[in-house]
Amino acid sequence: MRTKIKELLLATPESQEVTVKGWVRTKRGNKSIAFIAINDGSVVHNIQVVVDVPNFDEETLKKITTGACLRVEGTLVESKGSGQPVEVLAKEIEIYGGADNTYPLQKKGHSLEFLREIAHLRPRTNTFGAVLRIRNAMSFAIHKYFNERGYCYIHTPIITGSDCEGAGEMFNVTTLDINNAPKNEEGKVDYTKDFFGKPCSLTVSGQLEGELAAMALGSIYTFGPTFRAENSNTPRHLAEFWMIEPEIAFFDIIDNMDLAEDFLKYLVRYALDNCMSDIEFLNKMFDKELIERLNFVVENDFKRLTYTEAIDILVSSGHKFEFPVSWGTDLQSEHERYLVENHFKRPVILIDYPKEIKSFYMKLNEDGKTVRAMDVLFPKIGEIIGGSEREADYDKLMKSIEEKHIPHKDVWWYIDTRKFGSAPHSGFGLGFERLLLFVTGMANIRDVIPFPRSPKNADF
Ligand code: 4AD
Ligand code: MG
Repeated sequence: MRTKIKELLLATPESQEVTVKGWVRTKRGNKSIAFIAINDGSVVHNIQVVVDVPNFDEETLKKITTGACLRVEGTLVESKGSGQPVEVLAKEIEIYGGADNTYPLQKKGHSLEFLREIAHLRPRTNTFGAVLRIRNAMSFAIHKYFNERGYCYIHTPIITGSDCEGAGEMFNVTTLDINNAPKNEEGKVDYTKDFFGKPCSLTVSGQLEGELAAMALGSIYTFGPTFRAENSNTPRHLAEFWMIEPEIAFFDIIDNMDLAEDFLKYLVRYALDNCMSDIEFLNKMFDKELIERLNFVVENDFKRLTYTEAIDILVSSGHKFEFPVSWGTDLQSEHERYLVENHFKRPVILIDYPKEIKSFYMKLNEDGKTVRAMDVLFPKIGEIIGGSEREADYDKLMKSIEEKHIPHKDVWWYIDTRKFGSAPHSGFGLGFERLLLFVTGMANIRDVIPFPRSPKNADF
């Protein structure tokens, strides 16, 4: 039975027999002694294996190169070196798989750009090991948070016939031969011949179906992949990303803000409490202010204000923005970050946006111009959460659907919930990879998901 390196590094060394299995990071030494650093992914640190060279077969030792996978039997002793508490004195070494000198992850450091090109091997680096362990811990923490608070986890469909956000950035799902699609009398593609009998897409959000469930179960959340065919090649956008969407009956916009703030603080605190060795590594290698920033978010209240107040601040700031800003314009990431990083120097929650720049389902305010939208803005990220109180009034919802030209046949079932036992309710979507950008301090969203999907890139 192998012991994971994470456990070995915490064990009291008493010359006990141990088995280590993992991948060679480095090997150094001379004719009499060799030191092999092995990593098995359980923790960012390696374990040092000490080899008494004359006792081992030369051919075997030659095959122990960076990238090779080994089984080592030996005794666990206190390390004589200063770099580690314990080390393994090897008695027997088996090579599961060698790696010749074409293995791309040789000792030297590699750029994150280069590592993206070898995404099949990058989990073997310290950086991606750390990121993927944090990603795992955050997934678990999300389920734990909602489970402990009585939320029901709902699986919303991935293939859908409606466009939740109304931005038209959807990937079509079809089994028709696009080179030879059947046509109708008007010469257009005849979707009645398609698999679902109508045009369908990959979902951009589970919200609409989530709302249906909240109107029965009270408090629900979804956590699944979502897809957006927006052609934005930015460090904050992916074509396939994961979203967490709570939806809660009897919640107004204030309750929604309270939940978003509590949830985000809980997740950041969970990372600090459970992922410290990985966070320390990332702090040292990529972002010297990471730990400070994480602590700051946990300890300080988010600043809450309206879109209108935010516009006043931006306009009177005198700051030269790339995109000019005035009441009615959608906020760009530079505006959001100005508010968070320069003005308030803390996370910000903006509410009450102009209805024209937000989705059809948001509750109309009494001014008739703004809706109860809610965006949470974070340092270095900009928007991390988007949400709202939902329009619960049948007539107002119908008017909004008309104004936004949403086909009734696509959303009749959604409208039904306002016809039968409608209730005030609210919810939001947290972009999982945006959260991970914040918690890991990584600068590019492609480096916090194992296999990123972005324009012109679907390798691996
Ligand atoms: O603001 P968005 O578009 O809101 C919704 O989809 C709502 N239906 C959510 C709800 O109320 N249930 O997206 C929510 C979040 C954003 O704040 C952002 O964090 C993330 O999803 N997001 C993306 N993350 C990565 N790549 C993209 N292309 C993203 N688009 C949105
Ligand atoms: Mg948004």
